[in-house]
Amino acid sequence: RTLNWNPVMVEKQGFKHYMLKEIYEQPGVVRTCLEVYLRPEWEPQAPYSPVQLGLAPAVLADLEFIQIVACGTSWHASLVGKYLLEQLANIPTSVQYASEFRYAPPPLLPNTLTIGVTQSGETADTLAALEMELSRRQGLEPPLSARLLGITNRPESTLGQLVPAIIDTHAGIEIGVAATKTFVAQLMAFYLLSLELAWQRQTLGGDRLAELVAGLRQLPAQIELILESQERYIEALSHDFSDTQDFIFLGRGINFPIALEGALKLKEISYIHAEGYPAGEMKHGPIALLDAKVPVVTIAMPGSVFEKVLSNAQEARARDARLIGVTPMAEVEAQHTFDDLLPVPEVDELLSPILTVIPLQLLAYHIAARRGLDVDQPRNLAKSVTVE
Ligand code: G6P
Repeated sequence: RTLNWNPVMVEKQGFKHYMLKEIYEQPGVVRTCLEVYLRPEWEPQAPYSPVQLGLAPAVLADLEFIQIVACGTSWHASLVGKYLLEQLANIPTSVQYASEFRYAPPPLLPNTLTIGVTQSGETADTLAALEMELSRRQGLEPPLSARLLGITNRPESTLGQLVPAIIDTHAGIEIGVAATKTFVAQLMAFYLLSLELAWQRQTLGGDRLAELVAGLRQLPAQIELILESQERYIEALSHDFSDTQDFIFLGRGINFPIALEGALKLKEISYIHAEGYPAGEMKHGPIALLDAKVPVVTIAMPGSVFEKVLSNAQEARARDARLIGVTPMAEVEAQHTFDDLLPVPEVDELLSPILTVIPLQLLAYHIAARRGLDVDQPRNLAKSVTVE
């Protein structure tokens, strides 16, 4: 199956690679999601939600459980989504690889929403998992059969025809095989969905809801700031890793999936072995890998696990690892912990993944570009895997 776009229509606009152009498109992608899905006139006292997703009420009403299926980068976005759905909307949520789910689906609980996340809408495993979910729901009374939702950048895709409800991520066509702007757009979809559910279920006070909505509105300018202030530094830093063979990425809580995504980006385009790990698990195995030759990239954002993450990073220091920290500039303790800083603005912990992923995308890009690799078309990978 071929996707319906013409590469000539999408040009690099002066960027050396599509991936870099798409990294730079991210402030605009977030802005578009906010314009499309947030009600500009909303106030905390308003008798309606700040979010307008345009979904039929039956899709989201009375949910008791959410299960998400996805592959690759979409699976990482889904892990952030789980955190948001549980912490903001108080709905227990599972995330599974579609390729696993399709052969061992968990028992179907009542009032379960199944979400398929696929930027292309064409990934065979994700479609197969959703087809199986559709067929086992057949004959069940609505709304159970209606409770299937797709999050995709291609609403006209096979996914769009398969499921009754879609959130369009509006990121525009992505050419680089390594997903960047579509990942950030999927995160936006999960923020908006979680806030909509939080509003419906009254799980957050109006003030907290207003705080998060205001925080979302700041994100485009904050991403711009990271791009403007960090890219040259990260490009220069990447020179230090021309012979590096292994990287470790650490994060905790809502930034654990960003550690996974940072490692995946680096693997995909630079062919460097990289592992993402929840920082607290490092002592149960991967710490054995550490020495002066293995840089450790740690995401340390103020919030519930900040001190814990810093002390995990210090454990890595004791093994002579070079420590690179994604952390706010003003954090003195963090400055003393890390050898190299990739600063990001300080934001509400729950909103931080959308910022912390940006320097990791740039790091992967510049390491790969410096090695002279084909960043947009990495070996052995396809933009969308339409066979099992
Ligand atoms: C391929 C791509 C990955 C992508 C995954 C899922 O493996 O190389 O970058 O994350 O498919 O793609 P999807 O279109 O389902 O989000």
